[in-house]
Amino acid sequence: MGGGATNSKPDFRMHAVPGAHAVPTLAEDVAHGFEQRPRRLPPKYFYDAHGSALFDRICDTPEYYPTRSEHALLAEHADALVERVRPDHIIELGSGTARKTLALLAGCERVGLAPVYWPFDVCSEVVEQAAGHLQTRLPWLRVEGLVGDYTAGLDHLPRPVGRTLYVFLGGTFGNFDPAEGRALLSEVAGRMGPNDALLLGVDRVKERSIIEAAYNDAAGVTAAFNRNVLEVINRELDADFEPDAFRHEAVFNEPRGQLEMYLRAERDMSVECAALARQYRFAADEPLLTEISRKFTDDQIEREIAAAGLRRRASLVAPGDYFALELLERPP
Ligand code: SAH
Ligand code: TRP
Repeated sequence: MGGGATNSKPDFRMHAVPGAHAVPTLAEDVAHGFEQRPRRLPPKYFYDAHGSALFDRICDTPEYYPTRSEHALLAEHADALVERVRPDHIIELGSGTARKTLALLAGCERVGLAPVYWPFDVCSEVVEQAAGHLQTRLPWLRVEGLVGDYTAGLDHLPRPVGRTLYVFLGGTFGNFDPAEGRALLSEVAGRMGPNDALLLGVDRVKERSIIEAAYNDAAGVTAAFNRNVLEVINRELDADFEPDAFRHEAVFNEPRGQLEMYLRAERDMSVECAALARQYRFAADEPLLTEISRKFTDDQIEREIAAAGLRRRASLVAPGDYFALELLERPP
């Protein structure tokens, strides 16, 4: 190369995605969620920079099968998946550190595609981290990072020209309650054109002990992740939770088909939340519901897909029926 051509800068920008509609603030979510029984919190507050780093470590624990199962499916089928869609753009919801997405993008490289990657996450630090590690491996990759809250609507996501593959991995779809999950899937479907697709990772119903162990690793990383939400509230709302005074609990609620994660008060206590000018009493053993993670049978996911106005183009199931990847399209 002549002239001023030097070592090329990674092609990376960050964009804020404004919400399409208002969503409650943390203060409002705490005030409202703590009036309910059991008390509850939306899951997005886990993911400050520290929480995101802990989540990444959860993915490496021997008990947490979803990441390994989904990664194996992606690694094996990436080329065939991207050949079917031939995306110009990949928009990923809740992309996190995007380590599994690397398998998909490497497949693009092998079949001669060079889509633009748009990771969308509520945590700006992980978006930057994802861009950095992907571009180290794939120097051709253009990354347009998107930071925002997908529960606030997708209207202000970019609509790039060309075929778009939407990606929603990790079984995160299962972190929504049924009504919210349907609404989000329908919203994605509503954005899709006839040549677009959605790759959805869904965790399957399986033996209770396997599910519960995945959310209660022996090294205690998930427990630390769970308690971190109390640190977030302490910091953001000037509260005085003692995270260590809460015990981590993960139980599979079989009738509901959902893993439920709780923080349980070890003793009677009173928590001061200065920003809300409120005091909350927790009785000994009182649970705080911090997350649900729904697990699906094949029939159930088929119904969710149909309810969103989508249909299956391919369905890949991990050994032992542990996890599934659904390639979905919008019927003409
Ligand atoms: N896709 C990754 C990460 C899953 S964890 C994987 O499969 O391993 C869920 C991710 O969604 C986290 O990175 C979290 O920051 C992000 N997230 C959670 N709630 C969100 C919200 N409301 N809007 C946008 N991103 C969100
Ligand atoms: N989407 C992930 C899941 O439901 C999120 C998750 C995994 C998670 N482990 C967790 C959330 C522990 C809270 C606590 O599997």
